Amino acid sequence: MASHLYQSIANDLEKKIRQSVYTNGEKLPSVRKLSQQQSVSVSTVLMAYNLLEDRDLIEVRPKSGYYVRSPAQQTFEAPQLKHGSVTPKLVSTSALVMDVMRSSSNPRCISFGAAAPGSDFPILTQLKKTFAQLIRSKPFLGQGYSTGLGDEKLRRALAKRAADAKVSVHADEIVIASGCQSAVGLCLKVLCEPGDIVAVESPSYYGLLQLIESMGLKAIEIPSDPHSGLSIEALKLALEQWPIKTVLGVPNFNNPLGAQMPERSKQALVELINEYEISFIEDDIYGELGFSDKRPTAVKHYDTEGRVLLCSSASKMLEPQLGLGWILPGQFMQQIEYERFLSTSNQFCLPQMAVAEVLARSTFDRHLRLARESYRQRRDRMFELIAQHFPAETRLSSPQGGFVAWLQLPNQMNATDLYVKAKESGIIIAPGEIFSSNANKFKSSVRLTYSNIWTPEREKAITSLGNLVKEM
Ligand SMILES: Cc1ncc(COP(=O)(O)O)c(C=O)c1O
Repeated sequence: MASHLYQSIANDLEKKIRQSVYTNGEKLPSVRKLSQQQSVSVSTVLMAYNLLEDRDLIEVRPKSGYYVRSPAQQTFEAPQLKHGSVTPKLVSTSALVMDVMRSSSNPRCISFGAAAPGSDFPILTQLKKTFAQLIRSKPFLGQGYSTGLGDEKLRRALAKRAADAKVSVHADEIVIASGCQSAVGLCLKVLCEPGDIVAVESPSYYGLLQLIESMGLKAIEIPSDPHSGLSIEALKLALEQWPIKTVLGVPNFNNPLGAQMPERSKQALVELINEYEISFIEDDIYGELGFSDKRPTAVKHYDTEGRVLLCSSASKMLEPQLGLGWILPGQFMQQIEYERFLSTSNQFCLPQMAVAEVLARSTFDRHLRLARESYRQRRDRMFELIAQHFPAETRLSSPQGGFVAWLQLPNQMNATDLYVKAKESGIIIAPGEIFSSNANKFKSSVRLTYSNIWTPEREKAITSLGNLVKEM
């Protein structure tokens, strides 16, 4: 009986660790407290903790207590989910998207899923220090609502940086939002009515597709080339056939292909939207992360009629948790400001103040140089590993910036099945079907994020992924 008791206490704690109720490095209840909570003897609790130590899940720290081990210390093979527990729920793309997002943030998994930036850059320490200084020196609470366009110092810093993308803008022509996705959402709200048609690249970042779907809009998918991005020819044809309300695209290093639109296409795009008297929502979130020395221009550079609404954020070049984006709305300034008031009028000012400080320093340019070079090297390493461990027929995009790559698996393999199988081994990828409104279109494709430093565990995960592909 006693042996069952300690096992069941251990199993219960293991479940809580796997569900991240107790997270990495967190202290578990003391032996005395747990024995009181569970009404069992101290020795039963000690046996339960010993069992969890044997399972590599916790560690004892002398004179301190029991702690959850970090995933790097835990054995990588630890299965995350029981076989088949995900498959029946994947009934719609939005369910699959949420599953990928949830799994990507599970600290016990090795993730190539969500497109989060690398977590090892010194700028993050500088950002933390900046937060601490601001908290000490600025009266950031008790200031009422932060109405209007957002922090002025930040808008001034953004206006200065826009010059690198050859965009000339005044601080008062910029509206702060709570992330790039939410910035695009504000633009769609201003530009479209439910039922309207939005032209998007195909494949396209799933967050943008979900946004379109959730607002009752229809997406028309325009083919995107792995090198040159959105096809202007195909867009022209679509504009001739359909009453397209607006075009939404990521011209610089799009997600998931990493493609970069040539300058002449950017120019042609503006000419087209002028001709049809529509608008272009330019998502420039990866614009600063190209692998060449020169930052590419934005489509907005060619905008002569204020029809380009440029959206971006600090999520990829700094940190997504900041929840900080911005819009250069051109002729739609007033409407965007009003939508911001309706949806995000009380955005927390501290991240805005911190990012304003960081952007204004020369260390930020140093950070960008380091990030670009690191991502280029990390891409190259991923490609080497894929060449070594995946079937020879696997096809790869050649990202020219950013930190995501697009793979085409051989033999029309089902990438969602691969996602489910890989997840059982604690490896998270993004299956191709979520990058289109047509679930079959990219059934054999996969997006992999390479932003993080290559550790032996991450390299081993790519080997395991390659082996899974070969087995399937
Ligand atoms: C192209 C693109 N736009 C927008 C977003 C979301 O940006 P944010 O986190 O700033 O809302 C992402 C995130 O992956 C993205 O890849």
